[in-house]
Amino acid sequence: MRADCLACAVRKMIKEKVKTGVPGLDEMLEGGLIPARAYIVSGTTGSGKTTLAMQFLLEGVRQGERVVYVCLDAPPNEIKSDMRSYGWDIGRIQVFDATPDIMSYDKTPVRDVSTERRVIYFKDVPDTIRLTSERSPVDMTINTIQEILKQEMKERRYTRVVIDSLTSLRYFYIRTSEENSSMMSFLRLLSDLEVTSLLTLHLPEVSKPEVEVHVARGEIRLHKWIDGRGLVRGITIEKYRGSSHDHRLRFMRITPEGIVVKPVAPEKPAKRVVGELEGEEMEEQQPPQEHSSAQPPEAAPPPSDPEDIPPPPTDMPDHGGDGI
Ligand SMILES: Nc1ncnc2c1ncn2[C@@H]1O[C@H](COP(=O)(O)OP(=O)(O)OP(=O)(O)O)[C@@H](O)[C@H]1O
Ligand SMILES: [Mg+2]
Repeated sequence: MRADCLACAVRKMIKEKVKTGVPGLDEMLEGGLIPARAYIVSGTTGSGKTTLAMQFLLEGVRQGERVVYVCLDAPPNEIKSDMRSYGWDIGRIQVFDATPDIMSYDKTPVRDVSTERRVIYFKDVPDTIRLTSERSPVDMTINTIQEILKQEMKERRYTRVVIDSLTSLRYFYIRTSEENSSMMSFLRLLSDLEVTSLLTLHLPEVSKPEVEVHVARGEIRLHKWIDGRGLVRGITIEKYRGSSHDHRLRFMRITPEGIVVKPVAPEKPAKRVVGELEGEEMEEQQPPQEHSSAQPPEAAPPPSDPEDIPPPPTDMPDHGGDGI
């Protein structure tokens, strides 16, 4: 292929990519995500997975797309309330409440799922928590969730789906004996449905590779660690089949408007005196180590090859009141 044709093909591919809606992340992904594939967003607790996933769906709404959020970690009213802190209007995002009904202990036969659970707009989610008695008992399994998604996809053409989280899906709905095969079949279903999907995955402080990551087409990993300034956040693209991407760790902030990935720091930052300005970076930054208050930092491995870690940023802002 001639060089100019190759350039055209690359430009076309970038144009067709799905924008994540996270400032700075599309640049890392060379234009965005390849459509109709499933991607993992992984990170330890509080690293920003749900925030990133919501930004992805809101971008879809902005583009006039039909998007759906499958909540498994927290009930829709709680998610709706949490997202208000960013000032976002998530009313036009559709939501499927797949949170386990922990109060329901009576085993009942599987019913016609279409009449039991339905996808609604966030704007129609009441502010109060759903009571157990309001919901007809259903013996939910991974299969019923798959069926509901398939039925919904037949009726409405979603282009973006978020599963938040895959960790809860595995924990609540998949029996250990069928764990890996069920997970593979769930991810295959998403590919068959031709939606671009983000699946959040909770990483323990010390993580081992999960089967989902092997099967997914890409993995965006969120990091947080403590240094002399307090909590610092970062983001890496761990894997992206079929596309080039930024291999470096980039700093990010969770701001009152959501996640913002910082531009790459200059190759050779000017030396500065430690603590010269309020909130400024340490002169020598140690490779980050994943950290939460529950686990000492020395127990966790660095998130990526130390060679990939950028030089100390020159303009690290305050951390927006982040805490862990
Ligand atoms: N309005 C806001 N402005 C700035 N930061 C915020 C705001 N709201 C939340 N945060 C930060 O975002 C963090 C939570 O992000 P999020 O819920 O997306 O993380 P998560 O990875 O989904 O967590 P979990 O594993 O518990 O589901 C909070 O701990 C807080 O530090
Ligand atoms: Mg979350």
